[in-house]
Amino acid sequence: MPQPSLRSSASFQALSKLAPDAARWQMRELFAGDPERFKAMSVDAAGLFLDYSKNRLDGRTLELLLQLARERGVEARRDAMFAGEKINNTEQRAVLHTALRAPADAPKLIVDGQDVHADVHAVLQRVRVFSDAVRSGTWLGHTGKAIVDVVNIGIGGSDLGPKMVCLALRQYSHPGLRMHFVSNVDGHDLDAVLSIVDPETTLFIIASKTFTTSETMMNAQTARKWFTALAPESALARHFVAVSTNLEAIKTFGIDPDTMFPFWDWVGGRYSVWSAIGLPIALAVGFGYFSDFLAGAHAMDQHFKSAPLAANMPVLLALVGFWNRQFLECGSVSIAPYHQDLSRFPAYLQQLEMESNGKRVTRDGAAVDYATCPAVWGECGTNGQHAYFQMLHQGTDVTPIDFIAALRPGHELQRHHAALLANCFAQSEAFMRGKTITEVYADLQAQGLAPDEIERLAPHKTFPGNRPSNTILMEYLTPHSLGALVALYEHKTFVQGVLWDVNSFDQWGVELGKALAKNIEAELTTTVRPELHDSSTNGLIAKAREAV
Ligand code: F6P
Repeated sequence: MPQPSLRSSASFQALSKLAPDAARWQMRELFAGDPERFKAMSVDAAGLFLDYSKNRLDGRTLELLLQLARERGVEARRDAMFAGEKINNTEQRAVLHTALRAPADAPKLIVDGQDVHADVHAVLQRVRVFSDAVRSGTWLGHTGKAIVDVVNIGIGGSDLGPKMVCLALRQYSHPGLRMHFVSNVDGHDLDAVLSIVDPETTLFIIASKTFTTSETMMNAQTARKWFTALAPESALARHFVAVSTNLEAIKTFGIDPDTMFPFWDWVGGRYSVWSAIGLPIALAVGFGYFSDFLAGAHAMDQHFKSAPLAANMPVLLALVGFWNRQFLECGSVSIAPYHQDLSRFPAYLQQLEMESNGKRVTRDGAAVDYATCPAVWGECGTNGQHAYFQMLHQGTDVTPIDFIAALRPGHELQRHHAALLANCFAQSEAFMRGKTITEVYADLQAQGLAPDEIERLAPHKTFPGNRPSNTILMEYLTPHSLGALVALYEHKTFVQGVLWDVNSFDQWGVELGKALAKNIEAELTTTVRPELHDSSTNGLIAKAREAV
């Protein structure tokens, strides 16, 4: 049953009527008018706390947004996803990353005749055994030495998730194992790692859902060649393992079936960190903490499945983001983790959100007549304050920010942590309240500046404020809270995809560039006559051919 167009929905139309007034609302006044605003616009779930009160919306707006979620069938589509229905309609696949973190005793889930949870836990058990063996030193390289370096070769979802999590959980990681992530086809990436690792004590993980991605295949073949130049072919089995849905391709590469870790088509690449793609995490922090990471996500799943929409953290985060995108016309969202170990989290969310919802047609193929996914970007605080917060405060665009912080540090530098949290909270306050020209005049007069100096400086020192932000807090950054945080954004992405009626689980948009690159690579590396491209592309190819 095709989804009615978004614009035809009664609540969308009511929101559209409300938007011009809302654009003029001053958050200062919304807070002044309701001392309970913070309490009313915040929610706890799975160990996380979300404060969404610093947004330009009121109770009525929220009611209409929740009504929109109901009208768009968010709950039914959510239940369909958890039930294993093939909601990825262009690839005819189920979407079951939630099954990857379900406990072994979860209710049976049969999809295409397969017992999903049993399959998941069988692979998890293999991940446990293998990661325990490597970490304990019982898994030895071909010369009898324990593994010291682990090199994950993968890109996109086969890189971003494990890399982000290994960094975020660095305080939990094995002191004797160094994790490396090679993703770019740029030889500088692989070269930087091969130049510092020893083939006798290095384990390569070839991570690729399809086992056809050109960057990963080239990096894997080069790593294999490097290795077999320094060790016998028979040693590959001790130093190369693979994670993929494509077991035939792994066999062709020459990897021992005992060290192939499978996953399934119903796991999207950008949703795969919970699968054997997370093997680097289990190696780095141990299977126990990896299980805690899974449990945190499962806790958020349970909340998402059961909480009423008005108290549902992923739904609220999605609706607020939808309101800012659709009605405040914000073109991007900035992610500001105020935790240095979450420095790769914005990059992770770029793929999760923009590859899921960066679409221009509905599930039925009709061109949308509204904006869909905004650009997602960001940097750790407090660093962002010294890079682009100038634009966020006084630029012409309004960019909503998600602040993310842990109330307690994983270190003893208490003064540092107080300064970090002070900056985090001060920034969201500054974005909300701004600084009026009257306040600037008063400040400059109090500083004793001459009237003409005050006139000259005041416009430059005025802050419009009224700039929206969310703040997400956790007690500590732990495997469990990290799992809940990632699942929160997965479900936020899911809900927005339903609102926009796009298929959040395919990625046809990556195919054209790949195909064109193959042609141009042939023109750069062989005597193939250059195809008739545009003059720019022809000129660029000519320059590269001259340089060779
Ligand atoms: O970017 C396209 C994409 O297919 C992503 O969805 C995926 O995470 C990445 O490439 C890598 O794909 P694979 O894991 O199959 O190598």
